[in-house]
Amino acid sequence: MPVLSKSVYFATSNKHKFNEARDVLKNYGIELRMINRKVEEIQSENLEKIALHALKKALISDKLPMIVEDAGLFINALNGFPGPYSSYVHKTLGIDGIIKLMRRKDDRDAEFRSVVAFGSSSVVKTYQGVAKGKIARKPRGKSGFGFDPIFIPKGSKKTFAEMSLEDKNKYSHRAIALRKFARWFLKNP
Ligand code: IMP
Repeated sequence: MPVLSKSVYFATSNKHKFNEARDVLKNYGIELRMINRKVEEIQSENLEKIALHALKKALISDKLPMIVEDAGLFINALNGFPGPYSSYVHKTLGIDGIIKLMRRKDDRDAEFRSVVAFGSSSVVKTYQGVAKGKIARKPRGKSGFGFDPIFIPKGSKKTFAEMSLEDKNKYSHRAIALRKFARWFLKNP
């Protein structure tokens, strides 16, 4: 078990995201602390812009240094939908709505994208992660959140929702972005 020598706050209201991020960062000796905050989102087609806006709002707090994260599911056959609107689409159409939209589609390719935005008193940086994969024909699995039951990452037969948190982190967009952040953070005290 690595000694956690550095710490960073994560402003999010999503406990699943927090647990995934904590698991990734602990392998680098970085302790993650949750600030339970629903950061109001702007509408934009650019995940980086959304993440930076959320970071700006979150940095008003005195909890530094801090990260925020924004993610989306981009489906090839739907021209990248729901993309930056994934949260809204998950609430409205839901997984069943996406399954219906994809019913007659042979092209099942999709990707999850994540942007982690980091801010301290002196620096703002962003890190991106992409997980390529396919949309399942039916939802499978009970773990995780959001579109996990219908996303099968490349290199696996299981959906994210059929995996343990540790296995999801081997493939996930968020884990890729966080590992990039962690490598930089450790080199920049
Ligand atoms: P957010 O705006 O970053 O909170 O994420 C947008 C939406 O994308 C979430 O509400 C989820 O529905 C979906 N999403 C983002 N990341 C994941 C993931 O790792 N698994 C499943 N769904 C996700």
